[in-house]
Amino acid sequence: MSVLRGKSILLGLSGGIAVYKSASLLRRLIRDHQCNVRVVMTRSAQQFMSPLIFETFSGTEVITDMFHAERETVGTRHIDRVRSADLFAVIPATANILGKVCSGIADDALSTMLMAADPERTLLAPAMNKHMYHHPAVQENLRRLREMRYRIVEPETGELATAVEGRGVGRLPGEHTLLHHLEKALYAQQASPLAGKRVLITGGPTREAVDALRFISNPSSGKMGTALAECAAAMGAEVTYVSGPVALPDPVDCRTLHAGSAAEMKEAVLSAYEAQDIVIMAAAVEDIRPRKAQKGKIKKSGIPDRLELERSEDILKLLGERKEGRVLVGFSAEFEDEIERSGAKLREKHLDWIVVNNPGKTAAAFGGDSNKVTVLGAKGEKTEFPLLSKKESAEKILQTLFNTGA
Ligand SMILES: Cc1cc2nc3c(=O)[nH]c(=O)nc-3n(C[C@H](O)[C@H](O)[C@H](O)COP(=O)(O)O)c2cc1C
Repeated sequence: MSVLRGKSILLGLSGGIAVYKSASLLRRLIRDHQCNVRVVMTRSAQQFMSPLIFETFSGTEVITDMFHAERETVGTRHIDRVRSADLFAVIPATANILGKVCSGIADDALSTMLMAADPERTLLAPAMNKHMYHHPAVQENLRRLREMRYRIVEPETGELATAVEGRGVGRLPGEHTLLHHLEKALYAQQASPLAGKRVLITGGPTREAVDALRFISNPSSGKMGTALAECAAAMGAEVTYVSGPVALPDPVDCRTLHAGSAAEMKEAVLSAYEAQDIVIMAAAVEDIRPRKAQKGKIKKSGIPDRLELERSEDILKLLGERKEGRVLVGFSAEFEDEIERSGAKLREKHLDWIVVNNPGKTAAAFGGDSNKVTVLGAKGEKTEFPLLSKKESAEKILQTLFNTGA
């Protein structure tokens, strides 16, 4: 269950072109997470979109004025609404609203409500033209807001609103990234045991070369590893993610290293291993590799009858021999006797936890969006989960391992 579920969120909209993205974000918060969302709009925001859209999606009156309201008593709602919300999120935040918050100006409903809010429970997502974003006043305001402990979502670099401007920094991140930062802000209120921990996570398959174009691999998609990496980052961990070759974007809010073969994955993992508190090996490191990769492409006429194979590196075993106080977590995919075999692997490789799945029973485990896992611990713990989305599985796994709460 996502940390967002059922939360009370105050969504502030200021007058930037990206405000249209907040409409679908609002729908997601309500439909997927059953959040209770109250929307506050500046006068400029209403030039871009009608409050009616947000009123329809949120099912409640949008706050557009300090002193007047259609259906509710105005009174001290600028204080009450703010203090009762779990989170105040201004998406998008204009250069103007950043400047106002920074200077303590409260001259409309949104800026006044922001003055009544706790900075640590307030998220600001600046979005503007690159020239505005680079202005020293905006940069100085952002520095001071960070110092005041506001939660700032960095804008992305990409195509800006007008074709003339082309690319640049200042774009509002996509819905997936915004939801991640909303979750992270809520986890930060729970004193998560993963806060500040350095966590290394691997995901995806490896490819073991037969020749310059062909390889031995497996159908791992990297979805489980990515979900774990993003979830650990939302829970406050500093995540390094080592990804095998996958067709997914890198996980949000993580440092990602890319590896092709098992040997490259071993190098990448070892390069980051020293600094880590926790290591979660969710990658499907290919166990089998050709003894020798052919140079160039093997011609049809020259296809050999046999391929000489050997075992590739057992990264998990190697890490188990160099644990030195780290928490080490493995994944195992077994078609038969999965619990017994995984338990043996846990002991043999000196792991603290192993996450077990049976791709024979759960067709979705490889490649799909859902998974059914059992978590085994070195002290005999055993927790079985039902079929869940990979995001939910990641939350359950991390909650079980590290007591991170919901
Ligand atoms: C077409 C258009 C697009 C704009 N986009 C942005 C924007 O993305 N970010 C921004 O900070 N200001 C943008 N502005 C300027 C703001 O609307 C303006 O500074 C306004 O005073 C902000 O008011 P508010 O912060 O009370 O909503 C835009 C203005 C126009 C006319």
